[in-house]
Amino acid sequence: MSRYYITTPIYYVNDVPHIGHAYTTVAADVLSRYYRADGADVLFLTGTDEHGAKVAAAAEARGESPQVFVDLIVDRFISAWKDLSISNDTFIRTSSDRHKAGAQAFLMRLYDSGYIYKGVYDGLYCVGCERFLTEPELTSSGLCPDHQRAPVPYSEENWFFRLSAFGDQILRAISNPKAEHHFSIEPSARKNEILGKLRLGLQDISISRKTVEWGIPLPWDRTQTCYVWVEALMNYVTAIGYHDDRETFLKYWPADLHLMAKEILWFHTVIWPAMLMAIGLPTPKKVYAHGFFTLNGRKMSKSLGNVVSPTELVERFGVDASRYLLLSEFPFGIDGNISLDSFASRYHADLANDLGNLLNRTVNMVNRYLDGACPAAPAERSPEDRILADVAGDLSQTVRLALDRLEFTGATDAIRATVSRTNRYVDVTQPWVVARTDRARVSAILYHLIETLRLIGIELLPFMPNRAASLLTQIGVPAAAAGTRTWGGFADWSRVVQRPEPLFPRLDT
Ligand code: MSP
Repeated sequence: MSRYYITTPIYYVNDVPHIGHAYTTVAADVLSRYYRADGADVLFLTGTDEHGAKVAAAAEARGESPQVFVDLIVDRFISAWKDLSISNDTFIRTSSDRHKAGAQAFLMRLYDSGYIYKGVYDGLYCVGCERFLTEPELTSSGLCPDHQRAPVPYSEENWFFRLSAFGDQILRAISNPKAEHHFSIEPSARKNEILGKLRLGLQDISISRKTVEWGIPLPWDRTQTCYVWVEALMNYVTAIGYHDDRETFLKYWPADLHLMAKEILWFHTVIWPAMLMAIGLPTPKKVYAHGFFTLNGRKMSKSLGNVVSPTELVERFGVDASRYLLLSEFPFGIDGNISLDSFASRYHADLANDLGNLLNRTVNMVNRYLDGACPAAPAERSPEDRILADVAGDLSQTVRLALDRLEFTGATDAIRATVSRTNRYVDVTQPWVVARTDRARVSAILYHLIETLRLIGIELLPFMPNRAASLLTQIGVPAAAAGTRTWGGFADWSRVVQRPEPLFPRLDT
């Protein structure tokens, strides 16, 4: 059985979850559900990044100790993922004993590798980014472009990681598929950005802090804590037993896919691989950076007061539609914009009208004309039947190719096109007219409709696990038959459709 280890970033718990976090997590969930249904042994990891100056400051602002504060916020993440039917197999918290012990074991290996030394760091630190910024990165008025705050001058004696020793090896690993430690970066535009930056050369990085107490102490110098980014990256191995469950670790590492948005790609494609190379571990197979979205054309931010939580989205559109709407609004690899108005119109157009009506009228007709019993495959097929069967028969392959490339809109567009095509088939074949005179023909038409809906339902399962399951149940398809993705693959279905139930009720406006 093929293995598939997929991760999301671990999210900062300085604030509650929002739909930006949900975007990546839902994408990872769709892939996990898809590959699981395909028979792969999937391990889907998400979690929370709980240490560092930013989280400590948020706790202080609330008058809580960091641990009490993170315990509170983490529940919001866990329940947001539950609300969105996220099927993660495990969840890592960086304040957990497991992560702390694993990170210390990793750090000790790094220290023993000889790539760690003591030095002085002088620079400008942005707590919002949790990283040093260079002068050219700042705005003309000297602010961090992402946080619109001046970074703080910082000078300290810290421990350093000799990142500069790995530049050539990382360049080769990214650009040459035959190189040792090869990994891919997608989309290719992002890969080229990283390669361009790498060619400018690498500087060593400071990996510890004297002044940040809320962190993991370095095992060889307990007066310093590990720099939050270095510690956070290690979650991908500590969560699967790097130090305490060798068997699981060796089974799943290296990860098949690290998923994230573009702003943290450098950490994942340069610093993380170098850390792994330094201690002789394989690098992840693929790192994918999707785009960033704005809400009504503006960055979501607390100061603008326009942050939407996953729970608000689910209250408005339901779990499954929220998942679908997030991933089908704009292509995954590029930046985009979303708005709740456009979500509402696509909810009505794609889901309530096109898909909902197709299911509703099909189930109604099987009940009305055939007493609820799904017809068997007809001996003869009309040209329209054949065209529909071909279109529906191609769907599973199109979705597979799209999801293998993380083209979620490619998959949802193909499903949507099949739904529209099927609605047109109903309009052209007019089963309500045929039913008056020709039972065999109406039976054949309804067979084609049910079979097409079955194929559509199967492809929708990873996106809309609850509603797609309801669709399949309504047309009488047992769970076992749901796995058969080819045309004509449901010989053993129950043959009884249910009373129709609206999949996507119209929204209150
Ligand atoms: N804690 C670090 C990650 C460490 S991973 C070892 C971090 N956390 S974060 O809470 O800021 O989450 C950033 C991630 O949230 C992005 O990479 C992306 O996955 C997701 N997104 C947050 N806002 C988003 C948008 N507006 N649009 C798309 N993705 C968004 O960075």
